[in-house]
Amino acid sequence: MRHLMSPLDFSVEELDQLLELASDIEKNPKKYAHACDGKKLATCFYEPSTRTRLSFEAAMLNLGGSVLGFASADSSSAAKGESISDTIRVISCYADICAMRHPKEGAALVASQKSGIPVINAGDGGHQHPTQTLTDLMTIRSLKGRLGNMTIGLCGDLKFGRTVHSLINALIRYENVKFILISPEELRIPSYIRDDVLRANNIEFEEVERLEDAMEKLDVLYMTRVQRERFFNEEDYIRLKDFYILTKEKMELAREDMLVLHPLPRVNEISVEVDDDPRAVYFKQAQYGVYVRMALILTLLEITV
Ligand code: NCD
Repeated sequence: MRHLMSPLDFSVEELDQLLELASDIEKNPKKYAHACDGKKLATCFYEPSTRTRLSFEAAMLNLGGSVLGFASADSSSAAKGESISDTIRVISCYADICAMRHPKEGAALVASQKSGIPVINAGDGGHQHPTQTLTDLMTIRSLKGRLGNMTIGLCGDLKFGRTVHSLINALIRYENVKFILISPEELRIPSYIRDDVLRANNIEFEEVERLEDAMEKLDVLYMTRVQRERFFNEEDYIRLKDFYILTKEKMELAREDMLVLHPLPRVNEISVEVDDDPRAVYFKQAQYGVYVRMALILTLLEITV
């Protein structure tokens, strides 16, 4: 039985297969409409979510399966003090596969060790978010036609932004990918990514503070929200929250074919006037999230169509 904790749980070949499957699902949705008849997905979300939880549910419903679950810790027995290990042992009796989001780093991993069904990490604290990475990879691959040979700017809260950590882990395995890490000093990428992932693999990267300095070099700009819920005090959040705002003027500095991605939710970091720019693909990206999650459910349940 396989789980998904980090994008590295799949080899590059397996990732390619999964993205191929997701593209086929996008083109031929009817072919997959009954692939999961009789199967159940449990969504166990101990932290807020719109896209991740609902796109998982839409994915399972599109495959003919059904869904059950909870959307907050206080509506589950966690509020009574139940451990994740006990919860997952019970859910293993009710469902065939589980997507779990939790504020603590490593929570989904703990669950997977006691689970009788595949567990998917749908975000564990400030650590990883592998299904967002699958979504991001599908977006870049579908709209750019490649995953290698590019310069990616990651902008915003690189310290607490789990989507950034997972995306870097995944992209370093493709040829000639360079990173420009754009953040305020206090929100720089953690050393377990800078040293253990980027430096350890001899990946070319630079760290800058000004978005304007990076703009013209980028093939992809990945914007992120300042992760308020991970801050220790509100004052720091207020000081940093509007550090970056992508505007029409800044977009003029970018290449004509640069893509702007954002895992969403957006707060202030992209001005709504940018939404009409054809290079702004974050809503399309949310749509790709359903196809990759359909492909992931099929892969982990070992269902072939
Ligand atoms: C991201 C997350 O939860 O980490 N959202 C998402 O899943 N699309 C990004 C964020 O919350 O800022």
